[in-house]
Amino acid sequence: MLEETYRSISIKPAARMNRLPKQFFAQLVQRTNARIADGHDVINLGQGNPDLPTAPHIVTALQEAATDPINHKYPPFSGHRYLKEAIAKRYKEDYNVDLDPDTEVAVLFGGKTGLVEISQILLNAGDVCLVPDPGYPDYWSGVALAGADMVMMPLLEENQFLPDYERITKQQLERAKLMFLNYPNNPTAATASSDFYADTVQFAAKHNIVVASDFAYGSIGFDGKRPVSFLQTPGAKEVGIEFYTMSKTYNMAGWRVAFAVGNKELIRFINLMQDHMYVSLFGAVQAAAAAALTGSQHTVHELCATYEQRRNVFFKELHRIGWEAVPSAGSFFAWLPVPKNFNSAQFADLLLERANVVTAPGIGFGKHGEGYVRVGLLAPEARLCEAAERIGRLSLF
Ligand SMILES: Cc1ncc(COP(=O)(O)O)c(C=O)c1O
Repeated sequence: MLEETYRSISIKPAARMNRLPKQFFAQLVQRTNARIADGHDVINLGQGNPDLPTAPHIVTALQEAATDPINHKYPPFSGHRYLKEAIAKRYKEDYNVDLDPDTEVAVLFGGKTGLVEISQILLNAGDVCLVPDPGYPDYWSGVALAGADMVMMPLLEENQFLPDYERITKQQLERAKLMFLNYPNNPTAATASSDFYADTVQFAAKHNIVVASDFAYGSIGFDGKRPVSFLQTPGAKEVGIEFYTMSKTYNMAGWRVAFAVGNKELIRFINLMQDHMYVSLFGAVQAAAAAALTGSQHTVHELCATYEQRRNVFFKELHRIGWEAVPSAGSFFAWLPVPKNFNSAQFADLLLERANVVTAPGIGFGKHGEGYVRVGLLAPEARLCEAAERIGRLSLF
């Protein structure tokens, strides 16, 4: 039989695909993998992927729920009520925030999804989104897909890595519809106070700007200080929502489960958008997430203590080798100034090539990330110490 030949059509993506920002860190991952493949003993502190496993009682809940035929069917569109109740209960216990499970909670396929969705919900071309710089790059992706513009809010060490709302111009404020905040912060490891959030609520109400508080590291605060939820602020629900992921608190990054809580109207829009894009998460994942939220929180406190201990040990080692930096207040990152004569990418390259230590160059998080590298405290203490020791041997400080 004669083989037929078919002509390929030319695929022309929509303009929004070209607007997507370049994945700065994809190259870093490639180079790290190449070095590992070459047989080097690489200590990878460049990513934000929790290194410890999910607690056994959560895994068991998934296993059991997976055998229940009810979970083989489509789940309810906006998620199971028992999960939304579990979320509301956890917020009440942890932050004394009251949430109506039916109207103030939305179940998400991971925090990343919700953070991209909120921009699609609120922003038109020409609108402005206020974005922390340095900051988590997924905020940029959502704004780019929506065709809106970003106004960067510098997070500077001299301002404790908080944005200075006074710096935003009148013209920018007139166009601004959405603002992202993220404390405990990735990448700077700074935390925010109730006073800062009180100012934020006032600022948002005055200028009619929706606040999207990304509380991904909400359970990781050090020195006896539990991170403050934005929703604890009087008036917060009137101006915004909070995104909370199970990825970090419960070591469930691979499970893709998170939620948004707060302002009813925003929650309604998130559910509406999701009705058109997904049926909700696999029922067994929802059951396991509910088990995590309603079960003992002992493992959560233990995890936070583990990160705090890693921070203590690592910063002690940094101090010993002469690398001065502000100790992390929360999150599982360390934000470290690079020595003069290097930019962040050059310095990260040097650490990879001469010490086999992977760090994330600050420039990948925005212009104001220049001058720093981010280290993830995501390896056992001995490996963190070894990383510091290897860096120390380069005599750069
Ligand atoms: C600041 C911040 N927000 C949100 C997320 C998203 O987490 P996930 O999509 O796993 O829920 C991350 C993950 O690294 C993060 O660092």
